[in-house]
Amino acid sequence: MARMLYCWLPVFCQLSGLQALSLDALARQSSIYYQRVQTELSLDQVAQLSTVESLKLIVHGFLGSRTHSSIQPLRNAYQAQGFEHLLIADWSPAANLDYPSSRRAVAKVAVVLAQQLEQFLVRHNVSSETVHIIGHSLGAHIAGRMGRYFNGTVGRVTGLDPALPLFTPRSEDSLKANAAQFVDVIHTDYPLFGDLTPRGHADFYVNFGRAPQPGCEEVDLLAASKLLLEAYSCSHNRAVLFYAESIGLPKNFPTIPCSWKVIRGSSSCLDHLSEFHLNNASLVEAIVNMDDGQVVYMGEQVTHSATSHYYLETNAAPPFGQGVNAKFD
Ligand SMILES: *[C@@H]1O[C@H](CO)[C@@H](O)[C@H](O)[C@H]1NC(C)=O
Ligand SMILES: *[C@@H]1O[C@H](CO)[C@@H](O)[C@H](O)[C@H]1NC(C)=O
Ligand SMILES: *[C@@H]1O[C@H](CO)[C@@H](O)[C@H](O)[C@H]1NC(C)=O
Repeated sequence: MARMLYCWLPVFCQLSGLQALSLDALARQSSIYYQRVQTELSLDQVAQLSTVESLKLIVHGFLGSRTHSSIQPLRNAYQAQGFEHLLIADWSPAANLDYPSSRRAVAKVAVVLAQQLEQFLVRHNVSSETVHIIGHSLGAHIAGRMGRYFNGTVGRVTGLDPALPLFTPRSEDSLKANAAQFVDVIHTDYPLFGDLTPRGHADFYVNFGRAPQPGCEEVDLLAASKLLLEAYSCSHNRAVLFYAESIGLPKNFPTIPCSWKVIRGSSSCLDHLSEFHLNNASLVEAIVNMDDGQVVYMGEQVTHSATSHYYLETNAAPPFGQGVNAKFD
């Protein structure tokens, strides 16, 4: 069943001709860059850091690069908030192959990047607890594998629509909750590029985690037909846009808890809210009737005590979040 899903898009079924040796060589060309507002530095050019309370590392996905439009919103949002210590990984040499080869490179790339990050942390006496790795698509699995390199001591890993094709819930090199002290995952593109498998401590199923996301109804088909040129489908990228929006608007994505069974069947999360002792008349009412401290907000400021599956709906265009305030003003 799962195999059939992988293969309805020809790109996932191509046989990879790339030899392991050349894949290793391409993976070794991966690097991390330290971002300044107008410029960037390689890690060994970073002379001295002001006190580091939090360090973000962004990891792009298949066919991406550190300047690719798919991750640019994250960089822009952090910089707009004056965020100081921002790193972006670039594994474009191994990301711009056929999909099966790029997917096979995940673990190799992760170790190369993790070693560079480790050296940087040691040199600047920064604890891995302060590190937050945010990965999109295949980059989410790389982030997960990097977290395990640090034996789960990394503070947080965020997976933005972790890639589905050629992964199973058990794949050794896939994102899992053991990647960091806190792992949050946003699902937006099942069954195209994204999966529904719960992979973190908190998993967010936006509009049931499925394609097409609101506003993507026509674009997704277009993207699928132009796949080789335009690997990023609209719904797959929504995870990035939601997260980027949450950086400036931390309470814009209130959620309700929902059981995994209901999410998998995409029946109504509202029908089951009484199981959580919540008002079940509507999504908005359920949220309004929760104490603020009880609401789990998806995104940058998510509470690290979140340990469940969460459901929310979004608008078709920015601002995507239906923050309770936005709705009632
Ligand atoms: C490294 O950081 C720790 C805790 O932040 C501090 O106690 C220690 O003195 C620092 N070591 C050096 C060599 O700066
Ligand atoms: C992770 O644990 C292994 C085995 O105990 C150890 O050899 C390795 O140095 C640890 N890695 C890090 C980054 O702390
Ligand atoms: C809300 O929960 C009550 C009690 O469990 C149930 O009787 C009712 O049908 C639910 N309403 C909706 C709209 O799901």
